Amino acid sequence: MSEENSPASESAPHKRRVRYSGRNPRRFEDKYKEHAQDAETIAKIVASGKTPAGTHRPIMVAEILEALVPAPGEIAVDCTLGYGGHAQEILAMILPGGKLLGLDHDPIELPKTEARLHAAGFGADVFTAHRSNFGGLPQVLAASEISGVDMILADLGVSSMQIDDPSRGFSVKQDGPLDMRMNPQRGQPVSAFLQKVKADTLASMLMEYSDEPKAVQIGAALAGKTFNTTHELATAIRANLPFVAKEDAHLHVRRVFQALRIAVNDEFSALETFLRNLPACLKPGGRVAILTFHSGEDRRVKKAFASGYREGIYSMVTHDVIRPTAEEQRDNPRSQSAKLRWAKRAG
Ligand SMILES: C[S@@+](CC[C@H](N)C(=O)[O-])C[C@H]1O[C@@H](n2cnc3c(N)ncnc32)[C@H](O)[C@@H]1O
Repeated sequence: MSEENSPASESAPHKRRVRYSGRNPRRFEDKYKEHAQDAETIAKIVASGKTPAGTHRPIMVAEILEALVPAPGEIAVDCTLGYGGHAQEILAMILPGGKLLGLDHDPIELPKTEARLHAAGFGADVFTAHRSNFGGLPQVLAASEISGVDMILADLGVSSMQIDDPSRGFSVKQDGPLDMRMNPQRGQPVSAFLQKVKADTLASMLMEYSDEPKAVQIGAALAGKTFNTTHELATAIRANLPFVAKEDAHLHVRRVFQALRIAVNDEFSALETFLRNLPACLKPGGRVAILTFHSGEDRRVKKAFASGYREGIYSMVTHDVIRPTAEEQRDNPRSQSAKLRWAKRAG
């Protein structure tokens, strides 16, 4: 569609800006600018290094495509569909004749992404969405009568839609119910988890899941307590670190949030199951690319690829981890901790 014919250029009725108290919008729902749908506002938000609300900016797209080398007619799986940014790029390269299966366990965002990709012209013949944990990939493939695929992508962790929506309870910045489940229909929210967990178990999790140096002290302060909102928890963590500088305290808060998110979503079990199942899901010569965001994830991927290579399961694996370019890290600060590893199934 040319720009002259685009819906945005038609004389749209004037929309009043949403009113809020104070100089700047504080609540997510009030950030009308970030919810803006017009291309100009979205471009401005992206240029300022932010992610427009309700969207996700795909990370290391060029590097992932280089690792997966999608070609027309191939079958691809995106195990972490999210907003569908990577999926859309892969789809463009596997058509005609190819097919992409998108998995995600988030029941809130998955239907939106499915509808968006169908509306973008990727019909059910080339794109199907599957609500599943990626630990269940073999079952999804079996149900689709697919015995092996040409490429698999996993972009681990949470999407910007999840982090930025305070009602999901991931946000340190915006107050919300202390939940942090990517699939709120399973497991328990962080608030319930903290009420039941023992101090030493929590301390071990803080050490193992986010390398938190004050794990014992913070574990003892939080275990068995009741925190209903993300701000209540962040305030309690800071209160427990009275001699720590403000910026450093913020890092402790972020590490604790990360560890709790990993715990309630059982992220390492899912990743380990996925890594174990991977070779059987790939055709001979099939490629896998995994984007990780912290050391606990990267360690597991590195180890699985290295042992698969030694055993002759993979014919090639990344020698060195691949990082986002300095330009991408500057343009999208959320890419800063990303690490990419890939492997190729032996033929
Ligand atoms: C970083 S985002 C992916 C963004 C996506 N690549 C894009 O371009 O929009 C991670 C997504 O993976 C999903 N996810 C995380 N762990 C999962 C798991 N074990 N099984 C299925 N989906 C998972 C999350 O719900 C989230 O939507």
